[in-house]
Amino acid sequence: MVRPAFLIALPALFALAVLAALHVLDAGYAFVAAVVVFAGAFVIARLALRDVATLRGYAEAVATAPEARLPRLALPGLLLPLAAAIRRIGRGARSPLAETQAAAPGRSVLDMLPDPLILLDGERRVVSANAAARELLGPSAVGRDLASVLRNPALLEAVEEVMNDRAAISEAEFAFHVPVERNFNARVARLGEGNPGQPALAVALYELTAIRRTEEMRTDFIANASHELRTPVSVLLGCVQTLRGSARDDPEAQAEFFGLMEGQALRMSRLVDDLLALSRIELNEHTPLEDDVDLAKLIGQVTETLAARAREMNMSIEVDIPADIPVIRGDKDDLIKVFQNLIDNAVKYGADGTPVTVRARLMHKDIPPAMAGVRTAVAVAVEDRGEGIPPEHVPRLTERFYRVDTARSRQLGGTGLGLAIVKHVLNRHRGALVIDSKVGRGSTFSVYLPLVAATPRALPAPSGGAENGEAD
Ligand SMILES: Nc1ncnc2c1ncn2[C@@H]1O[C@H](COP(=O)(O)OP(=O)(O)O)[C@@H](O)[C@H]1O
Ligand SMILES: [Mg+2]
Repeated sequence: MVRPAFLIALPALFALAVLAALHVLDAGYAFVAAVVVFAGAFVIARLALRDVATLRGYAEAVATAPEARLPRLALPGLLLPLAAAIRRIGRGARSPLAETQAAAPGRSVLDMLPDPLILLDGERRVVSANAAARELLGPSAVGRDLASVLRNPALLEAVEEVMNDRAAISEAEFAFHVPVERNFNARVARLGEGNPGQPALAVALYELTAIRRTEEMRTDFIANASHELRTPVSVLLGCVQTLRGSARDDPEAQAEFFGLMEGQALRMSRLVDDLLALSRIELNEHTPLEDDVDLAKLIGQVTETLAARAREMNMSIEVDIPADIPVIRGDKDDLIKVFQNLIDNAVKYGADGTPVTVRARLMHKDIPPAMAGVRTAVAVAVEDRGEGIPPEHVPRLTERFYRVDTARSRQLGGTGLGLAIVKHVLNRHRGALVIDSKVGRGSTFSVYLPLVAATPRALPAPSGGAENGEAD
């Protein structure tokens, strides 16, 4: 402190010494004046140095929070321009990201990204993680070594590669197995030098689960469809060879083989028809519904075509559709397929000599949760008294080619695609299928179709009593 004070006072002290030497000023007065000058310089130096310390603190504060308040200075005339310059530098250094963040306080821009993003420091510790990453890794991931929150060799190798400057960007694919399998692609890139606590690497994850699942479904589907076609084709080839060979001169055997060939050809034709129907329905899944459908009439047509088959098995189809069931908005041909498949299944898998019941009801409550927001629906239940379905199979019945008993389904002429078709048609109608089955007692397949898109005049006012679920 003495040296700066001395430097400030130096010109005045020099002048006083000259005046005293020339005897212009008495030496005693000159000494007193010098002491006063030095004391003043000491005070000024002290204040100036304190202001400099204050500004140093201010500069550090601006580096992290550009909005930091300008501190009060003892000598504003001297150092205020410097303070203003520090503030300008602080504001200028603010990133566009920080600007956006300031515009949407409380919500980080990175948190709005659907994909997980993790920032690591030079020691592989998680410095920050956006909302998607926190959801994946758990809220306590920040501050921990990446290896302890995401223990995957491929990912850690990619991080290591970038950390040791063996690559600028590195990618890895890995899977999480708990609680369900999820696949990710990770892209690791260097951000900075990696001072402790500062982001050095960015790890951006991209979820591949849905893509992988679609790929798997596609290959499974092709494998299943080819397998379904291969069996009748090999039977046909076998028949042709026999007809050309050993059965050439045996009219009885020929008749038998022609019958077999016809059966296999019909099976292939049904399979191709169902495959085409499924692909057409999927293609149209988002096109608007244009027909006003009278369900009583439509179900009547379907039961007529299936009555002969039911009679063969000593079964009957009983239809109970009240007259007040409204006309619904739908696709006539597709709905015919729905009821054809369900009633056909009920006849096929129902017990000999028992009836199949088709019952329609207007519903104002107990509508399946999958049809959220729908307040009125028509429910058509197809009930059989057959062997029923073990519960572990029920959730998978609408998958393509899924059957409880494949051999039996084939023997009964089934393709394994009927319920998949039903599901897709109902998706297009924003409806739902509910399966209720008891082994040894029978099954009920209930179709729910919403009334929201029906012609308004066709919608009757809800009747009172237990049926009126509007208030629920
Ligand atoms: N009413 C039913 N009773 C018992 N099982 C049924 C019934 N409906 C369907 N299933 C089971 O669901 C499977 C799939 O049905 P679906 O897709 O219509 O194929 P399929 O061509 O075999 O009839 C059937 O193979 C059968 O195992
Ligand atoms: Mg079927």
